[in-house]
Amino acid sequence: MKLSLHVLVCNAAAFALPWSLTKDGLETTFQVNHLGHFYLVQLLQDVLCHSAPARVVVVSSESHRFTDINDSSGKLDFSRLSPSKSDYWAMLAYNRSKLCNILFSNELHRRLSPRGVTSNAVHPGNMMYSSIHRNWWVYTLLFTLARPFTKSMNFSDQRNVMRKT
Ligand SMILES: *[C@@H]1O[C@H](CO)[C@@H](O)[C@H](O)[C@H]1NC(C)=O
Ligand SMILES: *[C@@H]1O[C@H](CO)[C@@H](O)[C@H](O)[C@H]1NC(C)=O
Ligand SMILES: *[C@@H]1O[C@H](CO)[C@@H](O)[C@H](O)[C@H]1NC(C)=O
Repeated sequence: MKLSLHVLVCNAAAFALPWSLTKDGLETTFQVNHLGHFYLVQLLQDVLCHSAPARVVVVSSESHRFTDINDSSGKLDFSRLSPSKSDYWAMLAYNRSKLCNILFSNELHRRLSPRGVTSNAVHPGNMMYSSIHRNWWVYTLLFTLARPFTKSMNFSDQRNVMRKT
């Protein structure tokens, strides 16, 4: 039996991790947030194409705007994608991985949309409350303080807001 796949949401992410390498020898944020999705989509590409119309949604972030993965001469700088421990800054690694998400989504769309598979990258909402802050108590505090002012993924909460307004 041929199974169909019409919607693929690429939403896995690590944030504020201390520096570490995966067993492939790559910085973990980069591998989890970008390469993992990249690889999954490669593996599922044929399934997506034979399921057309199909769509891929890559969850990125506004954070991508604050960063660059090119060196000063404008060439892709691999050491920025998977930095050594001394060059690592968790927030920067996250922002760069979110830029990778967008570049990947755009290129995927360019390649697969003629075959009926579209790809879009989205920003889910500012400081959308999830467990993404769990690696550092400072972020946990920050996200908790911001929580009443941000969107909720909890559908009951949203209904309550709609009732009040
Ligand atoms: C990462 O993005 C955030 C916005 O989400 C921005 O406030 C921060 O300055 C950026 N940090 C770096 C190091 O790029
Ligand atoms: C960054 O590098 C890529 C690959 O070489 C290139 O296509 C792109 O135009 C560069 N972007 C900037 C802002 O220099
Ligand atoms: C979702 O919101 C409702 C109402 O505010 C609350 O009772 C419920 O515990 C929440 N569920 C989760 C998983 O947070």
